[in-house]
Amino acid sequence: AARPSPAAAPQPGAAPQASPQETVTLVYGTQTGNSRLLAERLKQRLEAAGVSVRAFRAGEYPVRELKNERLLYVVISTQGDGDPPDDARGFFDFVMSKRAPALEKLRFAVLSLGDSSYPKFCEVGRVLDERFAQLGAGRLFARVDCDLDFEPAAAPWLEQALERARAEVGTPVTLATVTPLHQGSVPPTFSRDNPYPAQVLANQRITGRGALKDVRHVELSLEGSGLSYEPGDALGVVPRNPPELVDAVLSTLKLDGATEVAREGRTLPLARWLSEGLEITKLSRPFLANHATRSGNAELQRLLTPEGAESLRAMLANHQVIDLLRTHPAAWSAEELVAALRRLTPRLYSIASSQKRVGDEVHLTVARVDYEAFGFRHFGAASSYLSSRVAEQDLVDVFIESNDRFRLPRDGSRDILMIGPGTGVAPFRAFVQERAESGASGRNWLFFGEQHFRSQFLYQVEWQEAVKKGHLHRLDVAFSRDQGRKIYVQHRLREQGREVHAWLEGGASLYVCGEAQRMAPDVHEALIDIYMTHGGKSRDDARAHLDSLREQQRYLRDVY
Ligand code: 2AM
Repeated sequence: AARPSPAAAPQPGAAPQASPQETVTLVYGTQTGNSRLLAERLKQRLEAAGVSVRAFRAGEYPVRELKNERLLYVVISTQGDGDPPDDARGFFDFVMSKRAPALEKLRFAVLSLGDSSYPKFCEVGRVLDERFAQLGAGRLFARVDCDLDFEPAAAPWLEQALERARAEVGTPVTLATVTPLHQGSVPPTFSRDNPYPAQVLANQRITGRGALKDVRHVELSLEGSGLSYEPGDALGVVPRNPPELVDAVLSTLKLDGATEVAREGRTLPLARWLSEGLEITKLSRPFLANHATRSGNAELQRLLTPEGAESLRAMLANHQVIDLLRTHPAAWSAEELVAALRRLTPRLYSIASSQKRVGDEVHLTVARVDYEAFGFRHFGAASSYLSSRVAEQDLVDVFIESNDRFRLPRDGSRDILMIGPGTGVAPFRAFVQERAESGASGRNWLFFGEQHFRSQFLYQVEWQEAVKKGHLHRLDVAFSRDQGRKIYVQHRLREQGREVHAWLEGGASLYVCGEAQRMAPDVHEALIDIYMTHGGKSRDDARAHLDSLREQQRYLRDVY
């Protein structure tokens, strides 16, 4: 797990170090790891420049110290509808609350991450930035909001953060002894910036013919890559857009795919930009705003006003770029289009295997996104790529995205409860494999849900095998559409409330993975009910208890 790092120790031969108040404090709140990545980069650069830094994951930052801070950098992302990352809730709530101290002595700056497909883009960073100022702190320089392709916007902010910190607290050290971290001899490591081409070993459909959903079990080889992962980690997959969609964009705009276009120092034919460089399966607010101006369409322009907020939210959620281009014609040149679209970003899939069981392989559970809308067939970028456009032996660019927020208890004798409907079950396959291979003595209880038992019981045979071998101690399933009334995982949780409560009181850790908008909140409600019914708590106490489980990292969520 990421731990707060102590202030940099004085270096022999360096000029006197800054006094303790003259350290920079760096707080980051991360859901997918991007904020952590940027915070770590800033920390390294500050340290290399002789600035002393204390870096904290928001959940580990002792908020009572806030009033003593002199220089604070916050790097934080926004989830879905404007929420902070799970782990940053305590920090966020404290800063926003009446308990927050006056911060006249503080100087600060905020780097905000988000996804412009959501109307409340970068809301958490924006709100914190305003709140610090309201509490009397001085803004060192302007906040920057980064979209999914965060690099271009983040880089200048990081530069500025480095410069200002040096000017404010950096002591002029002689850097003669500073050596680069890696000098030549270290082999290249594969990462987000340098993904590894992994060979596809298997790609099997694991839902039956009758099923509405096409879910795949995909196995990739990491052999020779030097990459390794822990249960709970995700695999970043660099997708290619569906060729049908690239063709549709080109033909709708009457553009030639062979036209060479430059962006950010790269020159590629337009068709390649659209297939591997830019985001076209998702619509962003800035692109919509640009298109609204071009088309002069009043209806589109209304979406960008406060009254249009609800319709805008719906539009960004269910329209692809092509839907906008088709329904509201406007002229785009190849250059303009390439400049206006977002960079294609990797998709993260929860890893469904444990290396203790599968060695150099990595397994994924991929639901193919494929639906009819507005008279056309729509596909998801990575899911359609993985399920239909790569076959065995093909190479897929991947990297490991470590996820410290979703870890098995270090103590293998602890029980675990896993709630994973649909493809949310993926990390729990990894968990059960890991605990079986490492001989963990704690019990494992899985709640799984899908629409139909016959065609959608993902990994049914494996779960049954695990039960038989004593690697899975309880399995409760909810098949929502096999009967008249919907039955979901939270119904099963409530039915088993007494036992669930007993497991939790006995120190079990609880994990939820899957859909974020409805499933995760519904499961949360069921847990509140369980504490009320079986723990004799009031609603408020039940809530507070779940919050404390979260703080103790015994209630962990990986939801999307
Ligand atoms: P449904 O499609 O029949 O509504 C995996 O996708 C399973 O999660 C499906 O059985 C799906 O049921 C179910 N599901 C849908 N909404 C849910 C919710 N709010 N809470 C829990 N499960 C839900």
